[in-house]
Amino acid sequence: MYETFYNLAGPPFHNTPNSRFFFETEQHKEALAKLEYTVRNRRGFALITGDIGSGKTTLSRTLISRLGQDAKTAVINNTRVSSQQLLELIASEFGIENSVAGDKVKLLTSIKQFVTHQHTMDRAVVVIIDEGQCLTIDEFEEIRLLTNLETEAHKLVQLLILGQPELRQTLRHPRLAPLIQRIVMYMHLKPMSFEDMTRYIAFRLVRASKGRPNVDFSREALRMIYARSEGVPRVVNLVCDNALLVGYSRNTQMVDSQVVDAAITQMLPNLDLESTDQFGEVGGPAADMLEEELDHGRRL
Ligand SMILES: Nc1ncnc2c1ncn2[C@@H]1O[C@H](COP(=O)(O)OP(=O)(O)OP(=O)(O)O)[C@@H](O)[C@H]1O
Ligand SMILES: [Mg+2]
Repeated sequence: MYETFYNLAGPPFHNTPNSRFFFETEQHKEALAKLEYTVRNRRGFALITGDIGSGKTTLSRTLISRLGQDAKTAVINNTRVSSQQLLELIASEFGIENSVAGDKVKLLTSIKQFVTHQHTMDRAVVVIIDEGQCLTIDEFEEIRLLTNLETEAHKLVQLLILGQPELRQTLRHPRLAPLIQRIVMYMHLKPMSFEDMTRYIAFRLVRASKGRPNVDFSREALRMIYARSEGVPRVVNLVCDNALLVGYSRNTQMVDSQVVDAAITQMLPNLDLESTDQFGEVGGPAADMLEEELDHGRRL
């Protein structure tokens, strides 16, 4: 809607886990590198936890696009299913014929055949379980069967489980000790720092622009966005999207504190409005930094 006004080719703060908009904060970069290493070296089992909206799904989408043709991937989002259905879902994601539904032994045999075939083609087989906090102990035990598929040197199925922090509680259950012992990589995604958030905003604007986004954010505006979002990418997106809308409606390309204030006030649902006037002391020449990042992006 406001794209032309700011010289953008598309919406910069769309809340979808689009790998094209993946921004490498230190920790996202580290997590991605470790995940790719785990998969490419057939290490087996990785676990990522993080607060709501911290970037877990975005990270997994970016991993899939990085792996490209080198991997066959099954992504399981709907974890509210029985453990048998979970295996069926995985098989169907891999395109394994569904004629064996209902027969667990045959199902496991088919999965094993598929996995072995991909191994001979030198292709990784990756199972990504998103929203892992919804999984039951039984389901986790079922999944463990997959981690047993291995050669002497390599795990044949690479398992990536993503979930909100309460997932850690489930995994502490004694029955899951054998599974936990198999985790070779674990990271917890924290919210972004103020500096990361500033670069994140600039990055997304440049990514969405036709070369040069025609918009600026004041230092005060950035502070307000950080105070409201606490560095959580999904909330940063929401505030920024609203702020651009308010700027557009006021015919200004300068997103300042008044614009952000209006954007936050209009955000629905605005359950903690009183927190918007509690700006923490965030140092650093934020506006300059954003300007620098935008300039950098323009030169690319
Ligand atoms: N590193 C990143 N680069 C670019 N955008 C990001 C990044 N991390 C998060 N986002 C943005 O924030 C939004 C929320 O991220 P995502 O859906 O990946 O979070 P999540 O941790 O999976 O959340 P949930 O716990 O609700 O499943 C995404 O739609 C994406 O636009
Ligand atoms: Mg998610």
